[in-house]
Amino acid sequence: MCGIVGYVGKDNAKNVVLDGLKRLEYRGYDSAGIALIINRKLKVYKKEGKIRNLEIELNKLNLFSSIGIGHTRWATHGKPASKNAHPHFDCFQKIAVVHNGIIENYVELRKELQSKGHKFLSETDTEVIAHLIEEELKETPNFFEAFRKAVSRLKGSYAIGVISSLQQDKIFVARKDSPLVIGLGEEENFIASDVPAFLPYTNKAIFLDDFELAVIKKNSVEIFDFNGEKKEKEVHTIPWSIAQAEKAGYKHFMLKEIFEQPRSIADTISGNMSWLKGDGKLEGVDPKSFDRIQIIACGTSYHAGLIGKFYIENLTRIQVEVDYASEYRYRNPIVNEKTLVIAITQSGETADTLAAMKLAKEKGAKTLAICNVIGSTITREADTTIYTYAGPEISVASTKAFTTQLTALFILALYLGKERKTLSSEKLEAYFKLLMEVPSKMEEFLNTERKEEIVKKIALEFYKASDALYLGRYVNYPIALEGALKLKEISYIHAEGYPAGEMKHGPIALIDETMPVIVVATKSKVYEKVLSNVEEVKARKGRVVSIVNKGDKAVKQLSEFSIEVPEVNEFLSPIINVVPLQLFAYYIADFLGYDVDQPRNLAKSVTVE
Ligand code: F6R
Repeated sequence: MCGIVGYVGKDNAKNVVLDGLKRLEYRGYDSAGIALIINRKLKVYKKEGKIRNLEIELNKLNLFSSIGIGHTRWATHGKPASKNAHPHFDCFQKIAVVHNGIIENYVELRKELQSKGHKFLSETDTEVIAHLIEEELKETPNFFEAFRKAVSRLKGSYAIGVISSLQQDKIFVARKDSPLVIGLGEEENFIASDVPAFLPYTNKAIFLDDFELAVIKKNSVEIFDFNGEKKEKEVHTIPWSIAQAEKAGYKHFMLKEIFEQPRSIADTISGNMSWLKGDGKLEGVDPKSFDRIQIIACGTSYHAGLIGKFYIENLTRIQVEVDYASEYRYRNPIVNEKTLVIAITQSGETADTLAAMKLAKEKGAKTLAICNVIGSTITREADTTIYTYAGPEISVASTKAFTTQLTALFILALYLGKERKTLSSEKLEAYFKLLMEVPSKMEEFLNTERKEEIVKKIALEFYKASDALYLGRYVNYPIALEGALKLKEISYIHAEGYPAGEMKHGPIALIDETMPVIVVATKSKVYEKVLSNVEEVKARKGRVVSIVNKGDKAVKQLSEFSIEVPEVNEFLSPIINVVPLQLFAYYIADFLGYDVDQPRNLAKSVTVE
C-alpha cells in the first residue's frame, strides 16, 4: 500500500510531486522517491523513512523539471530500505516506474527477464514493470504500445505511473484494483492515488477504472482500454476545499477530525436527505428484494457495522449478520440473491472488503457500499452507494468516518423501515428529529468549558498504564471495542473492549488497583445492568473512568473519573459516546509523544489482503 503522484506542466515537478506526496503520506511512510527528467536524462532520488528525509536531500540540489513522478511506500515486497523505494527503473535508467499494489506473477516475470539478461537492483515486485517495458520496446518503437503490452502481462493489483527519457513530455498510467485519479489543471496535469495530493492545484478529476490506461501531457489527457481503444471519461468536480484537507490550526489531523464531527454528521444527513425524506429512492437496490442482510467491513468500519445491526434489526426486523471482511471470504457464507450485502469502508479501497463484496456479488447478492470517497473502487463495484460526507480523513486513526458511518446506517435503517412499512411515518419523523439533534448535541459536548481539561487530566493520570479495559453493553458494546482500538493503535497501550456483562466470564481476573476500566454508562435500557458491572469492577479495586450523561449520580459515585456527555436517544448514543474515547486516546498518545496521525506499522488504506 503506497501513494503515487505525478506531474507534467509549467511548474517545477520536483516541488509539486513532493508536495503531493506529503499529502499522501498517510498511505504509507517507510520510504519515498521521485523521478524527474533533467537535461533529457532520467534522474531518480530515493530516501528511507518519511518524505521529509527525501525533501531535505532534494533541497540541497538545484533541480528543475517539468515532469516527474513520486512515491511514498508501505512495504509489501522487500523490506523498507532505500534500494526498495520507488521509482524503479530498467537496465539503462531510461524508464522510471512507481506502483501501488502487488504484482502476483512477479517471480516468474523476473526469472524470464533475468534469463534475457536483465539485472535487478531491488527485492520488489515493481521493478519487473520497468524491465518488461524495456523488453517490449525491442519489439516496437511505439512507447505506448510497449507500455500497454507490458501492463497486459501483469497479474495482481496495480496503479502504475511511468515516465521515460525516451518520451520526455508524457506520463503513462495504468490501473487495476488500486486507486488512480487524474487531476486536470491549466497547462498542467496530475496523477495521484488520492485527490488531496493535487487539490491545491485543481478540483477537476478523472477516476480511472480497472483495465484503463492513460497518456498524460501538459495540455492533454487520453484514456484507453487495454486493447488500446480510446475512451471518453466523466470529469468530476471534487467538492472538498483545500482547507478541509489541511490541519486548520490543530496540532494533529486526528484532533481536527474529532472536532469536525458535528459538521460531517450534519453533511451526511443533508447529503442523503433526498432519498430518505423526498420522493427519491435509493437507486440500484430495491428495498423489498431481500430477506436478510450481511454487513462486511474491517477495523473501525466493522465496529460501525456492529451498531448498524442494532439499527436495522430494531427498525426493520430484517435479520443482520456482521462479519470481518477478511473472515467472510473464507467461511463459505450462506449468501444468495435474497441477501443484501452492505460493505462499509471509509476509503473504498480496503482489499478484504472489496474481495468479500465481490464474492457476495458472484453468489447473486445485492450490494450496497457505505463509503466516504467518491469514485473509489467499492463505489464503482457496488449496486449502490450511500456516501458519508466526512471529507478527507487524513489521520490514520479513523474518527469522523466512523460517526458518519453510524449516521448513514441509521438513515438506511429508517429508509428500509419506511419502504418495508415496519416504521410508521410518525415514528420515522420522530427518529429523524432525534437524528437531526445529534450534531448540536455533539457540538455541545465538544464546546463544553473545561472538557479538554477534564479529558486531558484523566489522560495524564493513565498515560503510563500498560493495559486498559473498555466496557459497554447493548448498542454501546461496539463503542467499547472502538475505544480500545483507538487507544491501542495510537498509544500502543494494550487495550481490550468487552461486553460489560461478559466480564465475569474471564476478564474480571485482570482487574486490580492499577487497571483503568473505561465504562460507557449512559442512559439506556441496560443502564442498571451496567451500574452493577461498575460495582463489580469497583469491588475489585479497578480504577473506573465512566462516560455518563449529565446529571448522573449512581455511576459517577463509583467512578474515580467521569466524563459527562449530553443525553440523546439510546440508538444514537454511540455517535456521541465515542467522542470522549477518541479524545482520551488522542491525549494519551500525545502525552507519550507518539506520531498520532501516523502510528507505527499502520497505513490509512489497506489495499493488500
Ligand atoms: C482504525 C482504522 C482502521 C480502518 C480499517 C478499514 O482507526 O482506521 O481500522 O477502519 O482499516 O478501513 P476502511 O474503512 O477504509 O475500509
